[in-house]
Amino acid sequence: MNLFTYDPGYKSTASCESKITYIDGDEGILLYRGYPIEQLAEKSNFLEVCYLIFYGELPTQEQYEEFVYVIKHHSMVHEGFRDFINGFRRDAHPMAIMVGMVGAMSAFYHDSTDITNPSHQEISAHRLLAKIPTIAAMSYKYTIGQPFIYPRNDLGYAENFLHMMYAVPAEPYHIDPLYAKALDLILILHADHEQNASASTVRLAGSSGANPFAAASAGIGCLWGAAHGGANEAVIRMLEKIGSANHIPEFIARAKDKDDSFRLMGFGHRVYKHYDPRAKIIRKMAIDIINKTSGNDPLLNIAMKLEEIALTDEYFIEKKLYPNVDFYSGIIYKALGIPTSMFTVIFVMGRMIGWIAQWREMIQDPERVIGRPRQNYIGHASRDFVPIDERK
Ligand code: CMC
Repeated sequence: MNLFTYDPGYKSTASCESKITYIDGDEGILLYRGYPIEQLAEKSNFLEVCYLIFYGELPTQEQYEEFVYVIKHHSMVHEGFRDFINGFRRDAHPMAIMVGMVGAMSAFYHDSTDITNPSHQEISAHRLLAKIPTIAAMSYKYTIGQPFIYPRNDLGYAENFLHMMYAVPAEPYHIDPLYAKALDLILILHADHEQNASASTVRLAGSSGANPFAAASAGIGCLWGAAHGGANEAVIRMLEKIGSANHIPEFIARAKDKDDSFRLMGFGHRVYKHYDPRAKIIRKMAIDIINKTSGNDPLLNIAMKLEEIALTDEYFIEKKLYPNVDFYSGIIYKALGIPTSMFTVIFVMGRMIGWIAQWREMIQDPERVIGRPRQNYIGHASRDFVPIDERK
């Protein structure tokens, strides 16, 4: 029988060559196209970062304006989506709706799905990036029984999402610039992260020649898991369960117990064996936002205490477990009034550009082959069929 190199979870297998994102997990470095995440977070904005990730260079003023124009003018979705979404149960999780809606884009926009055509690749990318906030807000409005709100092209990307989430026909929604800025920053921090589980899923799904909408939908399904993007929702549930600082030691003990499946959500990372640079930025932002809004958030206090205790605990030190991007993001979302079920949806909004840049890089690779891992078979050797009346 064949024996292949066995690498569960692909811990040491490079699945591709990529020019998009660089991570040095030991040093806590993250670069998009060579630019440090700290500089992009401080000096750029989400759409500019999207341009950088997708096209490989920062845009000139003219290129930036044209890109923003194009993205804004793709922001509406086909009216058929309204009928489509009505088929879901009202109590569906917004992520479940997202998987369906993004997958269904290939039924509405099949005029741009010739994956060998570079201009189709670009239009599909623009459509995904432009429509994802609209679809995300629809997935929320549907679950709370409110009418869908159309996008407004006079608003920025994050502003528009907040508008579609919270405005109602009876009343406009006042968009707080602080909230829009915070959301824009969060989107930058989530924009790409090289070959994580969902990006790898998008590449693998797309490697068969599947259209980018189908591949992105596969990525959304993957991101939903609690070990990946679903962790931001799980962190808030965990902090609520902890309830107060004096219960922290009990949860730390559970996280260390090999016989208990509980893990500290928002802690640990496959690549970072150092503080996640995104978590550093988000942590600071969480403190700023709470100071500027409620002034005090019991969950932030628990999170900070939990971090302090974990980072001085031998188990976490030895295993190099630090807070990751999901640890503090939920606290910011909560402060912005975003419901917990939408946390991972916002991760999708940020990550969409990374997925489509990864997808395009894979499609344009002259060496592209279908992704098809091998296995080491450990089942039965060949045996004869037994008729049903002779089986024991
Ligand atoms: N709490 C307690 N122990 C942990 C944790 C944790 N959060 N994370 C890892 N460990 C332990 C784990 O039990 C294992 O111990 P041992 O060597 O004794 O078996 C060791 O650390 C290595 O863990 P692993 O599961 O082999 O590491 P991995 O690289 O496969 O997993 C991870 C990475 C992120 C899935 C994992 O750290 C985890 O489950 N964290 C909690 C979920 C989470 O926060 N996910 C978000 C990840 S970052 C954003 C994203 O990708 O979306």
